[in-house]
Amino acid sequence: MKRVIGGVDMSQKALVAWAMPELGKEVLSKARVEIVPLHGPKGQLPAREELIEALKDVHVLISRAILPVPREVIMANSRLLGISNYGVGYDNIDITCATELGIPVTNTPEVLTETTADLAWALLMATARKVPQAHHFTVSGQWEGPVGETLMGMDIGPGGSNRRKVLGIIGFGRIGQTVMRRSRGFKMKVVAYDPFLRETIEGMKGVEYRELDDLLRESDFVTLHCPLTDQTQHLIGRRELDLMKPTAILINTSRGPVVDEGSLVSALKKGSIKGAGLDVYEKEPRISPDLLKLDNVVLLPHIGSATKDTRVQMAVVAAKNAVTLLRGKRPAHVVNPQAFESPEYLRKLKDI
Ligand code: DGY
Repeated sequence: MKRVIGGVDMSQKALVAWAMPELGKEVLSKARVEIVPLHGPKGQLPAREELIEALKDVHVLISRAILPVPREVIMANSRLLGISNYGVGYDNIDITCATELGIPVTNTPEVLTETTADLAWALLMATARKVPQAHHFTVSGQWEGPVGETLMGMDIGPGGSNRRKVLGIIGFGRIGQTVMRRSRGFKMKVVAYDPFLRETIEGMKGVEYRELDDLLRESDFVTLHCPLTDQTQHLIGRRELDLMKPTAILINTSRGPVVDEGSLVSALKKGSIKGAGLDVYEKEPRISPDLLKLDNVVLLPHIGSATKDTRVQMAVVAAKNAVTLLRGKRPAHVVNPQAFESPEYLRKLKDI
């Protein structure tokens, strides 16, 4: 039953399936949306069955990019007015199903662009210069004199070879472009591949378009910034890794399944590439045990957008998107705008 007070429907509920920062919750409370929290004491994500049960009684779901929201979950409540995803990626959600049921889905781009580009660079530099290995060497008391070959890294700038290094960017959206801007200080040559943004790349200064295979053959550093789709799943597999230089480094801060993890382990073992810096994995939070044993990798636990300020802003955007969806309006960042046109959605609008 509706409880309308001062034109505001007080019975609207948002299921927040993760530990949302306070500022995000404030946005919901100020809009008089009831928050239904669903996560463990340390912010652990709910099990699928719990999510399904809790979803039946709410009007919007605020999910996060690492929480799977498959068809089976969405079908639990076709009356949902929307799903607001905390994160730029939304491959965790069955968008086809949401669209069929007239459920608009939103994400939080822009606020995390700079932060994620920073982390891609942190990984690139840490992998090239073996920073974690050197840290471990120092704190474990192994430093007794001049360090040997094992801690010698690779130049990112021209360095001793006096050769401009080539940075290959795969996926040239906001984050890929921001990674490119950060390369200027290293005097790199930048090449990029993105079949959807070829004209953008060709029209831009400081970057040259390459087809995927050419980029892989030419680059000293390959960094991935494409979304996970049917087309990009295992975009980097055995064949592609074999095309890379034996001195090249692969950086992945996009989505784990863009790289075939088994093939990557083989390539790193046999030395067909020099190293890899990874923030994302095929089956997070599980990591292939073989990857954990290698010493030519730097492995992070999916922290691309994890700074306090950025995570707060992402929460505020996710909360605002949810409120807008609950009001039956169109938020700025909708990934399936077709949902607004569907008869299912228009029917739901009448009940708001
Ligand atoms: C994103 O925003 O997609 C990040 O990967 C969040 O975890």
